[in-house]
Order: sequence, then C-alpha cells, then structure tokens
Amino acid sequence: EKGGFPHYMLKEIYEQPWVLENTLGGRLSEERGEAELGLELDPLSVDRVHLIACGTAAYAGWYGKYLLEGLAKLPADWEVASEYRYRDPVVDGRTLAVAISQSGETIDTLEALREARRKGARALGVVNAKGSSITREVEEVLYIHAGPEIGVASTKAYTAMLAAMALLALWFARARGVLPLEEARTLIREMKKLPRLVEEALEKRPIVAHIAEKYHQAQDFLFLGRHVQAPTAYEGALKLKEISYIHAEAYPAGEMKHGPIALIDEHLPVVVLATKGPLYEKTLSNIQEVRARGGKVIAIATEGDEEIRKLAQDVVYVPEVHPLLSPIVSVVPLQLLAYEVAVLLGRDVDQPRNLAKSVTVE
Ligand code: M6R
Repeated sequence: EKGGFPHYMLKEIYEQPWVLENTLGGRLSEERGEAELGLELDPLSVDRVHLIACGTAAYAGWYGKYLLEGLAKLPADWEVASEYRYRDPVVDGRTLAVAISQSGETIDTLEALREARRKGARALGVVNAKGSSITREVEEVLYIHAGPEIGVASTKAYTAMLAAMALLALWFARARGVLPLEEARTLIREMKKLPRLVEEALEKRPIVAHIAEKYHQAQDFLFLGRHVQAPTAYEGALKLKEISYIHAEAYPAGEMKHGPIALIDEHLPVVVLATKGPLYEKTLSNIQEVRARGGKVIAIATEGDEEIRKLAQDVVYVPEVHPLLSPIVSVVPLQLLAYEVAVLLGRDVDQPRNLAKSVTVE
C-alpha cells in the first residue's frame, strides 16, 4: 500500500505533482483570468478574513494572509486556533473565518471556528477529508483533494493547502477588481506549471540526501525566510523536529539581528530560503551575516543563480516560478531534508513519538 516506497511520508512527498493537478485542476480559467471555485459566497460581502488552523495548516494560513492582502487587497489575519478560540477575537458578519485542516477533525480548529461563528462570522473550510467534522460546520468547503494522508508529518496536504490559498486569493482579487486580467493570466499560467516544477524539485533528492549526510549529527538547525518564504521556513523547521527530533527553529530572516543571531556558530546549520523575489537581495545580506559568524548555510535558491554559490556552503536549486508561488516548490527539498535526516537517525518516520495524525483532544 506504500506503492513501493519505504514510508508513507516519502510516498506522499512524491505524490505532490498529481495532488497539485487535483487541487488546481478544473478550477482555473486562463482565458477569463479567473479561479472557478463554485462557491456561493459573495466575495464582495467579505471585508476581512481570519485564517485559523494548527501546525502545518496554520503555516498555510500565514501564506494565505500574504496572498489575500498582496493580491486581493483584502485584510487577512492568520492565527493558531488554540489561541484564537480563547482570545475574544473581534468578528462581525463581514468577517470570513477560513478553517484550514487536513483531517477536518482537529478540535482546536473546530472550536475556533465555532467561536467565530458564534460571533457572527461567515465560514469556509479548506479541508482534505471529505465529510469530516469541520466540513459539517461551515457554510461551504473548498476541498484540497490531496487524497488520504497517512504519514503523521503532513506533506502533500501542505502544498495542496498552499495551492488552495492561491486559488482563494485569485478569486477574491478578480471579484474585487484589483488584479488586472493580464496579471491574472500570468499567475494562472504559473499555477498550471506547478505540478511539473514540483516534479523537477523532487529530482533534487540526491543533493538533499548528501546535505542530510553532512548535517544529521547537528544538535540544532535554524531556518530563515522572508515574506511568503517565512512560513516555508517555519514549515521546514516543524518537519525536521517532528520526525528527526532535532531541535529546529525558524525566524523571518529580518528578525535575526534581534536575537537569534547570538545562536550562530560553526556548529549551526542554517537553512535559508533564498529564491528570487522582491526580498532576494536582503536575504543575501542575511546569509552574509550568518557566514560572518561561522554558520553553515544551506540555501534553497532559484535555478541559474550563480551568485548564491559563492555565499552558501550548500545549495539546492529549485525551478523558477512566480515569486508568490515559490513556497509550493521550495518546501519540497525541506520535506526531503527532514525525511533523509530522520532515516539516517533511525527514527520512526511515519509514526514519530508523542504525535497523532489528528489531534482531537485539547
Ligand atoms: O488535520 P489538521 O490539518 O487540522 O492538523 C493540524 C496539525 O495537527 C498538523 O498539521 C500537524 O502539525 C502535523 N503533524 C504537521 O506535520
């Protein structure tokens, strides 16, 4: 049932190209420049969005915030559901609560959603599991269609959630009249390339395996990224901790100088998301700061970027894509890194200690 793979996690990592076809398939019209989501919700009845989720799904929500604000000019906030449900959030009838969940059964997410609804919010689920509890408590569901995910560490559901966030942001952006047709078409063409580009990213596994070999004895890892790649950094760190039990922290790269830079020495591998985009140059400066303190830099960079080779000890190249979509491609080597390190350390990849696939208790 693992399709010839030694672990479900690896199988699910490799399923991502077709998962993205499923998530995006039939939902994009290049000619009209539209995302066709079949939702009854009136996009113009929404003034702000609250993205609520846990763990990996919460990082998809963080990414969603950047896209909803950047593309659709729609105020959006993301928050872990366990905080949202107890902090008395300000919500009204023009707030859309978006509950993001692979299982659709996470109790904190369900309770946060109920709290938003009690206060009058509209509710949309971005969910994988058909007919799950969350899907029964929202007005509408945007299914991510990732297929069953068995590995406790979420991989394919994450990339599918990111793709769903891009669909939702495009849908709002066009309805709100803030994204010109040509720009929408460009974005759609790029979205359609994602399955193939993720396939290419998967081919980097031997390079990632070599990096894992080099660093799997490290006590700690730091992950850095900016803008849409900040959630990617957090997701990379979470994957590594979950399945390898190595301590890993993530920071938005610009925050490094406010504290975490004190951690850097020659024993610390630092994974930097340094793909091409508006903050590329600033990310290079962050890499220089790490290098000046002896840190070991593993860069995830855009294919063809020669400059980065001079700065980083190790580089994993990923194919070029629209900067707003780069997390969907860049997270792949981070999933593989966590996997390879965990295997080298002899960990139970699919059933890591202390974790359950869905967290239905508080
Ligand atoms: O089923 P959900 O998407 O609601 O699960 C949320 C988290 O529990 C989940 O993403 C968890 O963080 C994973 N183990 C991450 O790999």
